[in-house]
Amino acid sequence: MSHILHQRPLHNTLFSSPYPTSPRSSSPSQRPISILSRTGLVVLLSLMVALGVLLPWMGMPQGIFSVTRPSMTKWRAYTLPQAASFVAKNGTVIVCAVSEPYLPFLNNWLISISRQKHQDKVLVIAEDYATLYKVNQRWPGHAVLVPPAPDSQTAHKFGSQGFFNFTSRRPRHLLHILELGYNVMYNDVDMVWLQDPFPYLQGKHDVYFTDDMAAVKPLNHSHELPPPGKKGRTYICSCMIFLRPTDGAKLILKKWIDEMQAQPWSRAKKANDQPAFNWALMKTAGQVDLYLLPQAAFPTGGLYFKNKTWVQETQGMHVIIHNNYITGFEKKIKRFQEFGLWLVDKHAQEESPLGRL
Ligand SMILES: *[C@@H]1O[C@H](CO)[C@@H](O)[C@H](O)[C@H]1NC(C)=O
Ligand SMILES: *[C@@H]1O[C@H](CO)[C@@H](O)[C@H](O)[C@H]1NC(C)=O
Ligand SMILES: *[C@@H]1O[C@H](CO)[C@@H](O)[C@H](O)[C@H]1NC(C)=O
Ligand SMILES: *[C@@H]1O[C@H](CO)[C@@H](O)[C@H](O)[C@H]1NC(C)=O
Repeated sequence: MSHILHQRPLHNTLFSSPYPTSPRSSSPSQRPISILSRTGLVVLLSLMVALGVLLPWMGMPQGIFSVTRPSMTKWRAYTLPQAASFVAKNGTVIVCAVSEPYLPFLNNWLISISRQKHQDKVLVIAEDYATLYKVNQRWPGHAVLVPPAPDSQTAHKFGSQGFFNFTSRRPRHLLHILELGYNVMYNDVDMVWLQDPFPYLQGKHDVYFTDDMAAVKPLNHSHELPPPGKKGRTYICSCMIFLRPTDGAKLILKKWIDEMQAQPWSRAKKANDQPAFNWALMKTAGQVDLYLLPQAAFPTGGLYFKNKTWVQETQGMHVIIHNNYITGFEKKIKRFQEFGLWLVDKHAQEESPLGRL
């Protein structure tokens, strides 16, 4: 029964809205129905759904309602443990968190990961239902939504409270994945892989991360947590983190969550989750085995996009490029285009698991 229900094209139309109404939960009311009213529309749709369910039982040809696309409704119940176990390879999951406006960046990032043959491990944590359905429709099982979905209107404005709320969910998701026993690599999607980063995750450290400082370091710089800067803290990027499922890594994430709660968002501070991550690293440094990745392989955008001399000196060493130290979608896309890192226009069809979006 539910199988038949799930195969109907009407569902795809209904559930492409970010806040879908379940036809099964809306019962026809006794009041007069206006076609133009919202309730009227819901009732009408419910009737169409009911009709669609009944028609096959009434001997109508099923063909008119059959559709090749898989059900969208089932993804609402898809959980993080199910998703992690589906995508994990060698006990490792690559995670990003994306809201609908970032889908072009997700696609760009995915192309670069596919070139390194690590796309099978990718799990997209969808921050709205549109993203959950779009990704899973094209690439079943690779997106999960951990309810409740944050307010998608505000979630992507950098520095806003919505953005802060959105990023504050990250450490919780990562902790959950570690508690399930996986290694996890987190990436922001305004990144592009030029080489495979996994060979750089040497040794058995708890947490691997990159520095967001633009100052040039010697090639043989230390892998220790750098000394604090002007604000009394380090400037480690929360954009690219690799964690092993160890007590040390879990401690960092718990501390990160605590730090975010202790220093909640305020308009004046325009906070994001990065300062809290740095306080967590500094406060647990003695108890946790930390590893700073090499700058030449994982440069901040403040260095890669701004210092041509350095880029030439370190040619062939770059592994992941981060398009930060700039705000705004259009500016980020333009900069990626200028550096030949905007891959979606030409390569999405053949190289992205999502195809052209
Ligand atoms: C899993 O790890 C082994 C050994 O390190 C490696 O050869 C293999 O390619 C890995 N598989 C995947 C899917 O990454
Ligand atoms: C952010 O989260 C707080 C606390 O959960 C909530 O009260 C507030 O409405 C949220 N704001 C936005 C813009 O999402
Ligand atoms: C890096 O190399 C320089 C010159 O060879 C040396 O003096 C320095 O101690 C090295 N630094 C580290 C952290 O190994
Ligand atoms: C740019 O890179 C060069 C070469 O590494 C370095 O000597 C120079 O100090 C850098 N410039 C700035 C502004 O950081």
